[in-house]
Amino acid sequence: MAKTKIAVLVSGGGTNLQALIDAQSRGEIPHGEIVLVISNKEGAYALTRAAEAGIPNLVITKAACGGDQEFFEEALLAQLAACEIDLIVLAGFMSILSKRFTDAYEKRILNVHPSLIPSFCGEGFYGLRVHRAALDYGVKVTGATVHFVNEIPDGGEIILQKAVEVEEGDTPEILQRRVMEQAEWQILPRAVELVSEKLSAN
Ligand code: GAR
Repeated sequence: MAKTKIAVLVSGGGTNLQALIDAQSRGEIPHGEIVLVISNKEGAYALTRAAEAGIPNLVITKAACGGDQEFFEEALLAQLAACEIDLIVLAGFMSILSKRFTDAYEKRILNVHPSLIPSFCGEGFYGLRVHRAALDYGVKVTGATVHFVNEIPDGGEIILQKAVEVEEGDTPEILQRRVMEQAEWQILPRAVELVSEKLSAN
């Protein structure tokens, strides 16, 4: 049976990409293979992680597409099609994709979000801002969610969630790290394998 061909889209440090690479090398994603990493930011450390793992990687920025979202998405789609990608994983990818894009890969795009959706999600909630909002609200439990991506930011069907305790004295940075370690890096590889298995059976 052919493995699901996976592209990971990144913008930053790429610790979630690293969690996927590590899970793959431990044999925990038997139905999928990461074949491409695309960053929309030049110099993102995620690109170094991809290169060190021997995964083809490239940069496509909106600026290089004349600042036009439609051209940017067309460039992404062309690259994904050229590599015959079956499944797209947004791992810290800080760009909201249009309905045109998400419809082209319906139920084939996953995102990891650092809160328990529907709390602290949607437009404007990304990275440390999510954890700052959780601390400002005073929640005692937060976590992470992996969901399918549709045209509504953080609005697609939920695949996996994991709760994480907020502790006395947490800063956004401390909480972010705990949510990554205890939730994101665990549920993202599991969700990728779950969806890869389904897609590879089709
Ligand atoms: C992660 O915490 C991810 O959940 C979050 O950005 C961080 C990226 O870290 N994504 C979002 O907030 C998307 N709304 P990484 O580059 O080290 O994986």
